[in-house]
Amino acid sequence: MDILSVASEIYPLVKTGGLADVAGALPAALAEHDIAMRTLVPGYPQIIGSIKRGRTVANFDDLFGGPAALIAARVAGLDLIVLDAPHLYDRSGGIYVDQSGLDWPDNWQRFAALSWVAAELAKGLVEGYRPAIIHAHDWQAAMAAAYVAFGRDTRTRVVLTIHNIAFQGQFGAEIFPHLRLPDEAFAMTGVEYYGGVGFLKGGLRCAHAITTVSPTYAREIRSPEFGMGLDGLLNERSHDLYGILNGIDISAWNPQTDPELAANYAAANTRKRELNRQALVERFGLEADQGPIFGLVSRLTWQKGIDLVAENADWIIELGGKLAILGSGDGHLEDAVAVAAARHPGRIGFVRGYDESLSHLVQGGADVILVPSRFEPCGLTQLYGLRYGAIPLVSRVGGLADTVIDANEAAVEAGVATGLQFSPVDGPNLGEAISRAVSLYQRPDIWARMQRKGMKTDVSWANSASKYAGLYQKILG
Ligand code: ADP
Ligand code: GLC
Repeated sequence: MDILSVASEIYPLVKTGGLADVAGALPAALAEHDIAMRTLVPGYPQIIGSIKRGRTVANFDDLFGGPAALIAARVAGLDLIVLDAPHLYDRSGGIYVDQSGLDWPDNWQRFAALSWVAAELAKGLVEGYRPAIIHAHDWQAAMAAAYVAFGRDTRTRVVLTIHNIAFQGQFGAEIFPHLRLPDEAFAMTGVEYYGGVGFLKGGLRCAHAITTVSPTYAREIRSPEFGMGLDGLLNERSHDLYGILNGIDISAWNPQTDPELAANYAAANTRKRELNRQALVERFGLEADQGPIFGLVSRLTWQKGIDLVAENADWIIELGGKLAILGSGDGHLEDAVAVAAARHPGRIGFVRGYDESLSHLVQGGADVILVPSRFEPCGLTQLYGLRYGAIPLVSRVGGLADTVIDANEAAVEAGVATGLQFSPVDGPNLGEAISRAVSLYQRPDIWARMQRKGMKTDVSWANSASKYAGLYQKILG
C-alpha cells in the first residue's frame, strides 16, 4: 500500500515540535505493516541542504507565484518528495514565522501549494507513483483534502490528522480566488469559515477520515471548551473521527544507548541515572544536594501552563526541590522564568533556547518531568519521561490523561502508578501535585517502583501503527 504523508516539518531535518517527531517516526512504524509511506515536505533550506542524491520528478512553471520542482530523495532513512519552490520556502527565519516572530504573510500560499501538489501526486502527476491515500498533518497540509474533493478525484482517500486544533490556518476571503479551487468550494461544505478561508476547517469538511493524537483529545475537541470553534463540525463528523495515541521512536529515545547521556542505564539498574543527574546539575548551574529535580522541556506558551510553573517556583524551592527548565517561546513567559531563576540561583536553572541534545539529558537526569498543559493533544515529553525514568507530573487533559497513571493510594498499593496527574488545571492544583511528588520522592522504594513501571510501559509505535494500518484498510473499503 502506497501512502503519501504530507507534513510541514519532519525529524531529524526540521522540527518545531512533536509534529516533526511523529512525521519522522510514522513511516518506519508503518513499514512493518507493508505500508510504503513517502513524505511530501516543503523545500526549506535545511531540507534542500540535506539532499545528497535527488531526482527531479516534476516541474511547475508557476506554482503559486514562481517556478518549482519536485525532488525525490532518500534522506536520513526517510523517503521524501521535496517541494523545491524557492519563492515559497527559501528564506532565513523560522519555518512559519519571520525573524521577528510574525507569521510569514504568504503562509496561505506556502501551504496551499504544498497541499495542491499532494493532490496532484495522488492524481498521477509522476509516472509510476500513485498513492491511494494522502495522510495530511495539521492545517498546513489539510487543504489536500479540499483539492481532492473539489478536483473531482473520487479514487484518492484522505486522512487528516489534527495535532493541535489551536492552529487552524485562517485567512481572509480575498485569498480564495488564488487557491485554484472552483467557486463552489467557498461554502459551508468547503473551505469557507466565518466569511474567510479556513484551511483546517476545509480539510475537516472534506477528509474521508479524521484522526487526532489521543482518545481523550478526540473527545475533548467535540466540546466548545477544547474545540476552538470547530467542535460543531467535529460532532457532525464524529463517525469519522478517531483518537490514535502517538508513540515515540524508541531507538532514538533509548536510555540504554542514548549518546547524549552522561551514563546509559536500564530499568533494572536506574542507579546510574545519578551520573546524568550530576551532569544536569552542572549544566543548569544547580546545587548538588539530594532534593528532587523538576525538569521541564517545552515551548514556553500558554498552552503548556508555563505561567503555572512560574507561579509555583517558590513553592518547589520551599519543599527542597530544584527546577531545570529548557525552553523558548513567548517573551513574557521567558521573562517570568528568567525572573524566577534569578531569584533562586542554584535552585532554578534556565536554559533559554532549543537544544535537542540537552533535552535528552533532562529526561535522563531529572527526577520529575513537568507537563502542566492547559490542553495537550498527545504530548511526547511525558512519554520520553516514562521511558527515561523521569516521573511525569502532568495535568489530566488530552494525551496526558491517556498515558500516565496517577499515583493515588490505590494505584501505588497495586504497583501500577507511573506518575502524577492533577485537575482542574490551575496553579494551586499544580502546587498540590508538586507536594505529592516530593512526598513520594522521599519514599525511595515506591519511587523506584514507579520508575521501573514507567520504563516498562510500551510507548513505542507498535500499537498505534496497527491502528493506522487498520484505518487505511477501512477507508479503502
Ligand atoms: P508540542 O508539539 O505541542 O510542542 P510535544 O510534547 O508533542 O509538544 O512535542 C514537543 C517536542 O519538542 C518534544 O520532542 C520535545 O522534546 C521537543 N522540545 C520542546 N522544546 C524543546 C527545547 N527547548 N529544546 C529541545 N527540544 C524541545
Ligand atoms: C502537537 C501537540 C502535541 C502532540 C504533537 C504531535 O504539537 O501540541 O500534544 O504531541 O502535536 O502529535
